[in-house]
Parts: sequence; C-alpha cells; structure tokens
Amino acid sequence: MNNISKVADLIEKRRIAKLGGGEKRIDSQHSKGKFTARERIQMLLDEGSFEELDMFVTHRCTNFGLEKEKYMGDGVVTGHGTIDGRVVYVFAQDFTVFGGSLSETMAQKICKTMDMAMKVGAPVIGINDSGGARIQEGVTSLAGYAEIFERNILASGVIPQISAIFGPCAGGAVYSPALTDFILMTEQNSYMFVTGPKVVKSVTGEDITTEALGGAAMHNSKSGVSHFRVDDEQSGIALIRELVSFLPQNNMEEAPIEPCNDPIDRMEDALNEIIPDNPNMPYDMKQVIAGIVDEGHFLEVHAGYARNIIVGFARFNGVSTGIIANQPAFLAGVLDCDASRKAARFVRFCDAFNIPILTLVDVPGFLPGSGQEYAGIISHGAKLMFAYGEATVPKVTVTLRKSYGGAHDVMSCKQLRGDFNYAWPTAEIAVMGAAGAIEILEGRAIKDITDPEEKAKFIAEKTAEYQNKFANPYQAASYGYIDDVIEPRNTRFRVIRAFQALQTKRLTNPLKKHSNIPL
Ligand code: HXC
Repeated sequence: MNNISKVADLIEKRRIAKLGGGEKRIDSQHSKGKFTARERIQMLLDEGSFEELDMFVTHRCTNFGLEKEKYMGDGVVTGHGTIDGRVVYVFAQDFTVFGGSLSETMAQKICKTMDMAMKVGAPVIGINDSGGARIQEGVTSLAGYAEIFERNILASGVIPQISAIFGPCAGGAVYSPALTDFILMTEQNSYMFVTGPKVVKSVTGEDITTEALGGAAMHNSKSGVSHFRVDDEQSGIALIRELVSFLPQNNMEEAPIEPCNDPIDRMEDALNEIIPDNPNMPYDMKQVIAGIVDEGHFLEVHAGYARNIIVGFARFNGVSTGIIANQPAFLAGVLDCDASRKAARFVRFCDAFNIPILTLVDVPGFLPGSGQEYAGIISHGAKLMFAYGEATVPKVTVTLRKSYGGAHDVMSCKQLRGDFNYAWPTAEIAVMGAAGAIEILEGRAIKDITDPEEKAKFIAEKTAEYQNKFANPYQAASYGYIDDVIEPRNTRFRVIRAFQALQTKRLTNPLKKHSNIPL
C-alpha cells in the first residue's frame, strides 16, 4: 500500500467507524425517535469543536463467536469539545453497537475520557443509551462498570458531572448516572431501574409497566432520582448547554460571569404587596424569584419533586447563584423528608463548586406526623442543616414571612454561618405559629372558660398579643440574628450588594478526612 492509499484507507476506516453498528441499526434508532451517539454529540457541542478519541478501539471478546463481530469504536463515542467556548469531555453510548452494552474496552474508553477531564479540570457529560453489561463478556464488564463508578466517586465535587438518559439504563448501570451531579430524562424512550418489569413480576408478582417503574415522570416526581424532565432529546441537549453555563469548570474555579443588562437597583414594586394579610394564604414564591433575578430567568432543578421547596440557578448581576426557597403555594412550604434531601443535595453541590447561595424563607416548620417520623424526618432534616452549616460559600438569607422553630434554624440562619440575613417587614420569626403557641401556653385557661363566646374572645386576645410580640422580624433583629429589615421591592439590590460584599469571603472548615453527614 503506497502512502496515498494509506490516507484513503484511513478515510475509509473513519467512514465505517462513524456508521457504528451500520445503517440498518441507525435507521432503527431513528425510527424510535432517537438520535445516534454522534448526532447527539454534534448537537451538544459547539459546531466543529468535537475531537473524537479512540475511534479505532474494538472489543477483545471471543465468547459466543464475538471475535467475528467487531465494530470500530465499540459501542461508545468519546472525546472532547466545547460548549460556548468552554471545554467539556463527553461520552455517548452507541445503541447501534450491541445495544450500547458495556464491554471491557468500552469501559476503558469511558474511563480514559473521565481521567482526561479530571486531569484538565473540565465537566464530563455522559449520554446513556445502553442495554447494560455486555452479556457475552461476563465479569469483565462488571469490573468495567466498577472502574467507572470509582471515577464518578473521585470526580464528585471536583468536576461537574452530568448524565443524560436517552434510552435504557438498567441494572447496576444506573449507578454511574446516580453518582453524578445531575440526571436528565426524556419523556419517551428513557428509563432507569435496578430491575426491570419482568424480574419485578417474577420476584414480587407485581405487574408494572416500564414507564411506571422507571420512566421520566416517575423519577422526576416520586423518586427524585432525575433532576430534569424534557420532552425530547433536542430540548435535553439545550438544557445541558444552559446548565453548563451556570457552572464552573471545576472546584478550583468560579462560574463564568455573564454580561448583565438588568439594572441592579431595579425596584420590583409588586413585591411590597405579594404577602397576603392572612398568614394562611399562599402566594407563589416563583414570582418572587422571577422578580429579583437577572432578566427574571431561573433554571429550576428538580422542578417536579418535593415541590414545597424550590431549588435552581439564576444570576445576580451576571453572577451564577444557587437559590433555595420554600414554596408556600405547595404544602404551605413545609419541610418534609423529600424537601430536606432535595435542598441538602443542592446546597452541597453549590458549596462544592463555589456557587453563592441565596435562601428565601417562608417555612411553617417540619411536617408533623407518624408518616414523616417513620420515614426519618430527623435524619433528613439534619442533612439540610448539615449542608447549610458546612457550606463556606457566600450565603445570603431573606426571610419573607414565616420562619418557625427548627425550620428557622435549618434554613440558613445566622448561627449556621449565614453571612447576611435579611427579613421583610412581613417576617414572623418565632418558636412556632400563634395558634399552636396559644394552645400550649393557655391550654388550661382556655379549658376553664365554658362560655364559647368568651372563649373565642380570650383566644383572639391572646393570639393578637403573641402575634404583636413575635410575628415580626424585630425581635430577631434586636438580637442581631437579622442584619436588616428591608423593603421587599428593594430585595434585588440588597441581595446583589450583599453578594458583592462577600466576593472575597474566605472560610475553611476544620481539617478532617471527611464529614459524616447523616445519610
Ligand atoms: C449484548 C445486547 C445487550 C447486552 C442488547 N443487546 N442488550 N448485546 N449485551 N446487554 C443487543 C441485542 O442483542 C441487539 O443486537 C441490539 O443490542 C439491540 O437490542 P434489541 O433487544 O433488539 O433492542 P430493543 O428491542 O430496543 O431492546 C433494548 C433492551 C433489550 C430493552 C435494552 O435489548 C434488553 O433487554 N437487553 C438486555 C438487558 C440486560 O438484561 N442487560 C444486562 C443487565 S445486568 P442486534 O445484533 O440484533 O442488533 C447489568 C449488570 C450491570 O447490566 C452491573 C453493573 C454493576
């Protein structure tokens, strides 16, 4: 073969490699409404930025005659490219090659990608579409999974890791995405479970569909395994690009600052009137968020799960910020097991990646009852407290209305090292709400009054007395637990100024191997 033929041979080899498992299987992939691994990467990365690695890798398995069936690339496309000019490493499982199933060599390709990402400090994005362990390879594919898992664990808190589930992700394979920071699922074709419907049926007798057992709707509302639910792959990819824009490249850097055209001192008059006079009436915390962040733009994370708390990313004067906010419009914004876990994980992500945290408080307390106690609300609530108390990033807290009892302490109070704690004049910072307090303090007196009218009058008087004393921010402000009481419409400006004043914050925790968060 002369040199010109060698170049032609290379070009031909590349052409064949790019076909993965062949045109028939690509057509089959398209017929299911799915894109191929390479198409997905092309959509994800800036045009022309993808550099593929290990295109010529093939498997080494000789079981079941597999030595006769080899595909260049072996079931995963790996490499690096850019998103908005910033480097990311990617791997996309190629369902057209043995159903994207994981072989020893495929695991090596993924590990190499992750090692490179760690070496340079860049995010890793994994696109999952796989039938699990390559059955013909047996135990080597299990070892391959574990090699990936270990890298996911070591990369956690060092580089952002994002998983898109664009096809099957079943068995032990689910644990790689589960170890990453964010999981995204599409409405169709995307499912995750440890054991599929057939095994479930044979072991427990339960009849359940794939969708109900591990579809996007379930994981984004019930289990909380997935953070984002999108209609289709294109929207999923657009969302990943947006998510990356809020994140730093690694734990030693800060997120990029975007130009901000929204005036930092923009007054939002509607906020002065958003809190209803009746403390039992809800309002939508998302309106508050939209009113104070740059251009009203908020990327909500875990939107369908534990809706009594809101978490997500926005920008203040162009600076990426994590927001945690109780949602009075859902379950009165109470803290329960799921809300505590959801918020705790988000706080820890922000802290690991130098993203400042804004907490908006309107919380009536922890949800009472045996259901919550049996589910371990004590440990789950402690997780959120732990996450806030451990976090060293700038922390600004604004209390809008209720901040009662243990929930007050948990929601980034001063003593958990909140840097600036502000309150609106409508704030009620107290051990508990007036009705509950009067029942406890005046229970005996109330019982002794027989006349119903007199009883009602007595309760009303005592409630008003309690409300006057405690249903305000000034008692807490008199102790310095609240740094200032602010006008609601001026919240954006005060928050931006607080974060500006915290830009150079330096705080470290005591040296230790690692903490022991109440898991
Ligand atoms: C080898 C596999 C494969 C696998 C699919 N294929 N899964 N090859 N190992 N695990 C191949 C098929 O033989 C077929 O090859 C092609 O991929 C497409 O598969 P289809 O079945 O035709 O596709 P579809 O109907 O869409 O069904 C997809 C599927 C199904 C639901 C994923 O293929 C399936 O159930 N696969 C097995 C899943 C499984 O049990 N995996 C092991 C789980 S245990 P051709 O040549 O026809 O194109 C596990 C342990 C991990 O993963 C532990 C980690 C700690």
